[in-house]
Amino acid sequence: MQLSYYGHSCFSVSIKGKIILFDPFISPNDKAKHIDVNSIKADYILLSHGHVDHLADALTIAQNNKATIVSNYEIVSWYNDKHGYSNGHPLNHGGAKTFDFGRVKYVNAVHSSVLPDGTYGGNPGGFVIESEEGNFYFAGDTALTMDMKLIPLFTKLNFAVLPIGDNFTMGIEEAVVAAEFIECDKIIGVHYDTFGYIVIDHTAAKAAFAAKNKELLLLDIGNSADV
Ligand code: NI
Ligand code: MN
Repeated sequence: MQLSYYGHSCFSVSIKGKIILFDPFISPNDKAKHIDVNSIKADYILLSHGHVDHLADALTIAQNNKATIVSNYEIVSWYNDKHGYSNGHPLNHGGAKTFDFGRVKYVNAVHSSVLPDGTYGGNPGGFVIESEEGNFYFAGDTALTMDMKLIPLFTKLNFAVLPIGDNFTMGIEEAVVAAEFIECDKIIGVHYDTFGYIVIDHTAAKAAFAAKNKELLLLDIGNSADV
């Protein structure tokens, strides 16, 4: 599976010819000035929670591509009610839906969630994706939580996308334990270096995962990797 990284927690994967984009925050990101939001393709846009650093460009990209927004009920309703964007699919925690590219389950995250205009954004979450081309977990913004241990009871993950920047989410030490909880050896790190609060030491981060026989990939913004 090809994964393209657009900075902060934004990435896309291609599955069965469909492009699934996660948490688009590109135009406000100083580190992603070389990415043209209008060049981003998406058939589905999955949003983990309501914070602006996860959905700033979601409406623009959705409108450009007639993409389906998949998120919790409150966020999908907000796009319909406030923005007149009705092409959405609502989920809530523990629920899954099979789309044409694969199955999406909305899972727990320990964080907060409010939309940019102050509207209640529901509870924050992450996604477990199962497909014929592989399975993965995107944790969204979260602390380390025991709930992560539930994921491998149902899904054998090929890789996971975890926040590692500390301060607003778990940091390196806890992300390594998260990788153990979800029984996954290939981790793509996100939610680091975007702001001063979340700058990390890349070498130390990779070494912490390597010490547990796990691989941490830190992609350059705009680059892709086979995962
Ligand atoms: Ni957040
Ligand atoms: Mn965030």
